[in-house]
Amino acid sequence: MKISVAGTGYVGLVTAVCLAEKGHLVTCFDIDKNKIEYMTEGKAPIFEQGLEELMIKNKDRIKYTSDHDEAYRHPDVIVIGVGTPEKKDGSANLQYVYDVSRQLAQTIENDCTVIVKSTVPVGTSDKVEQLIRDNLKHHVNIEVVSNPEFLSQGTAIKDTLNASRIVLGVETPRALEVMKQMYSEFNIPYVITNRNSAEMIKYAANDFLALKISYINEIANLCELVGANVEDVARGMGMDPRIGGRFLNAGIGYGGSCFPKDTKALHWLAKFNDCELKTIKAAIEVNENQKLRLITKARKYFDSFHNINIAVLGLTFKPGTDDLREAPSLDNIPVFLEEGAKVKVWDPIGANNFRRKFPSEIMYCESIEETIKDAEVCFIFTEWPEIRQFDIDKYGKLMKNPLVIDGRNCYALELAGEARIVYESIGRKTISNYKNAYSVVTSK
Ligand code: UGA
Repeated sequence: MKISVAGTGYVGLVTAVCLAEKGHLVTCFDIDKNKIEYMTEGKAPIFEQGLEELMIKNKDRIKYTSDHDEAYRHPDVIVIGVGTPEKKDGSANLQYVYDVSRQLAQTIENDCTVIVKSTVPVGTSDKVEQLIRDNLKHHVNIEVVSNPEFLSQGTAIKDTLNASRIVLGVETPRALEVMKQMYSEFNIPYVITNRNSAEMIKYAANDFLALKISYINEIANLCELVGANVEDVARGMGMDPRIGGRFLNAGIGYGGSCFPKDTKALHWLAKFNDCELKTIKAAIEVNENQKLRLITKARKYFDSFHNINIAVLGLTFKPGTDDLREAPSLDNIPVFLEEGAKVKVWDPIGANNFRRKFPSEIMYCESIEETIKDAEVCFIFTEWPEIRQFDIDKYGKLMKNPLVIDGRNCYALELAGEARIVYESIGRKTISNYKNAYSVVTSK
């Protein structure tokens, strides 16, 4: 099939490449000409494992363009995969989705199925259909389908090619037929429903996962007070198949471009419809507090961070991506800087993006060793494999004051118990093997 994809962010580009991998002829459209040039050279504009390889492998089946006519005039299918950023009031900004809808309506010259893949509030596909019909220049038949994606950053290709389900929100048999043709090579079960339900599935799924994380984070905070270990608790809960073990890792909250935005958007949508989603509201509140949990822990040792040498390991919202959106590092590091700390940071991939936001006030290090050397406290914000595999004894050897405050439970307590460090983590007891730690830092 001839498929055009509008938007070349995570959703658009990954979808495009995976459709090409399955044999379709794909045209990627983006208004950003520099990005188009970059991708035409076979380079991926985002860091995503396996993406560039698939772009190169399928280069004969993928074109990149900023030309509306080339993208929208004659395809069988157009996928809308543009961003739906958060507005100030928490609702989703649909401007880009509507811009594409208007543009394609004015360009399209043959019958076509339009897929809304961006995460959009319930009812948006109906509006897209209306907008296209109102703006059509040629007499053609248009079908609009809601087909949300469930890919995660870092595993986006795998998640798309081996998805657990393909949700198809369709209103006509013809639209369903086209969708089945497009996905014929994927061998993934379908959930076939109407458009409103498909749009709701996406938000309900994401918000449930966010809720699960906030739930385990609250349990973790209580575990600390009552002497329980959240990892054991999560394992014991997760082995019940009705609960499931995934997304029960306690930490410093969820970040990224989806959960924070989608929880707020669904909460907003409910309010707009005169109802309140109390569970989602709670998940949002818990997450906001959890992001600063390590600072609360650090206050046991420091009244202020003035002149304190702080090491930060991990800047991105999760490992496997260079994405900083809603990352806890962005909430915490400004507090250190405002109080006059000397901050050294390390991240294997996200450092360059962070440097754009904080060009001069932070020292960027090339290794974990360099970052923690002479530090008086080390904060861990992202569970990169390099941090998990780092020799824990080195904290004791290299830091001036070996206090490690770990927001992602990177080390087993048994291991930490043998190291000459003070080790604080989430939902687990404090390890205190370095007697002078407290007095060293409070004597400042
Ligand atoms: C999320 C969903 O997992 C995808 O299914 C969905 O398609 C995507 O949003 C989207 O809507 O586009 P993503 O934001 O890439 O994917 O990342 P996740 O792996 O879900 O992690 C989100 C955040 O939750 C991260 O900050 C992570 O550290 C945190 N998390 C995750 C926890 O704190 N604990 C966990 O057990 C799992």
